[in-house]
Amino acid sequence: ASILMAASEGLPFVKTGGLADVIGSLPAALSEMGHEVKVVLPLYKKIAEKNFQDLTYCTSFNIGMNYKDVPVTIYSQTIGKVAYFFVQHQGYFERDALYGYQDDGERFAFFQKAVIEMLNRLNYWPNIVHCHDWQTGMIPCMVRETRSGDPRYQRIKFVYTIHNLLFQGNFGPEMVDSCLSLPWYLFDNGNIRFDGGVSFMKSGILYSDKVTTVSPTYAQEILTPQFGEHMEAILNMRKYDLWGIVNGIDTSLWNPNTDPTIPFNYNKVTLAKGKTEDKLALQRELGLNQDPNVMLVGVVGRLTYQKGFYLMMEKVQQLAEAPIQLAILGTGEDAIQNSFRNMENNNKGKVCFYQGYNEDLAHRIYAGSDLFLMPSLFEPCGLSQLCSLRYGTLPLVRETGGLKDTVNPYNEYDKSGNGFSFTNYSSDELMATMYNAIDVYYNRPEDWKTLVRNALNTDVSWENSAKVYSQLYGQLV
Ligand code: ADP
Ligand code: GLC
Repeated sequence: ASILMAASEGLPFVKTGGLADVIGSLPAALSEMGHEVKVVLPLYKKIAEKNFQDLTYCTSFNIGMNYKDVPVTIYSQTIGKVAYFFVQHQGYFERDALYGYQDDGERFAFFQKAVIEMLNRLNYWPNIVHCHDWQTGMIPCMVRETRSGDPRYQRIKFVYTIHNLLFQGNFGPEMVDSCLSLPWYLFDNGNIRFDGGVSFMKSGILYSDKVTTVSPTYAQEILTPQFGEHMEAILNMRKYDLWGIVNGIDTSLWNPNTDPTIPFNYNKVTLAKGKTEDKLALQRELGLNQDPNVMLVGVVGRLTYQKGFYLMMEKVQQLAEAPIQLAILGTGEDAIQNSFRNMENNNKGKVCFYQGYNEDLAHRIYAGSDLFLMPSLFEPCGLSQLCSLRYGTLPLVRETGGLKDTVNPYNEYDKSGNGFSFTNYSSDELMATMYNAIDVYYNRPEDWKTLVRNALNTDVSWENSAKVYSQLYGQLV
């Protein structure tokens, strides 16, 4: 099939989280299977500064916003088999950050309108437009409701992937005509209305032919009030079209044998030596005590309540007393940052908190750690645990969403498993699981080696999931 993916971020251009990893790797995996995949992104400042000379002009036109004509230009670039389109408007997109502005609703309304009109201007009619997250959730609705007289548009099928139901793109009702140019009855009849405003997420869920999310467990969870973020009723209306397809990672980018950002490359054979060297180098880099034998626990992630770091904050003392070192990389909420900062200050040489976003250091933590901690409250999929598996670092996770689908807990009887996990959102359970991991690491090294081998043998590539997406598309075209 020919597929256009519309998204708000994607590697190798811009990344703030896992969505960018997915947009940077799934298209290539689908192209390998014979699909024709293109991607459309906003032309952010970072892309304009870094890649502008590589972009080719495609077309320019006007978009109606706030009852005025606003110019937009489309550029493109091809990487491998995947063509990327960029929607350029300096005022809306060439800013320091990707999101978090007061006019985000208007910015992404503009983006979506531009994507829709771009198809017409380029005379490019994909079979499927695959939208990701709230930033592209209005596209199916706007196409169906404002281009109903045009069969070229009406032939398009829509897939909508929810990467995180927490971020819904809910805006005030004034948006209906000023930015979206939609008729008011769609608000009045409830199609796009949610909680008194317009919801991009709800519209995406209702107007798409298929709805997917990024793991089978999360697909089940979001049908319940506990995980549904107040959209469970809407999701239940679509539950027969809701698929949970687990993410993969780009296994050439995440490859301990070739990774240029880690000091020592290793494979299954050279693992023991390579990982020890990477651990020593990481300890040196982060100011931790040099000790190849201590269990090094890594953490990489957005420091928000989603990721379960409050459980660690409840056990600062126990973590400090445990026979481990902690290497933490992330930015986010002040409360979490302050707690990690204090933990480092009180335990120099044992705990390091690197506050910031640093992709290369993330690679070195995945490679140099023994255990990777990810105690999320909820986790649609999670990619960090896949990266750690790929580097032979055992994940310790809470059994939720994609963490449950990708990490199998250690079974001391048959030696199966590729990590450790706990069920309830409880810091006592987290610590009990941590002590179990510590016990295996120090007292049953043969079992630990087996688990590491199991981790390295876990398939974290896109191969299987790309086949499932392919089946999904196949049902539509
Ligand atoms: P989410 O998308 O919810 O943030 P994921 O686990 O799906 O979580 O993806 C997070 C991605 O972002 C991973 O590739 C992880 O390595 C990366 N990442 C998160 N925080 C940082 C950071 N501070 N520095 C570098 N990479 C980070
Ligand atoms: C979201 C989720 C994360 C998922 C990522 C990519 O950011 O929080 O769990 O892995 O999207 O799908």
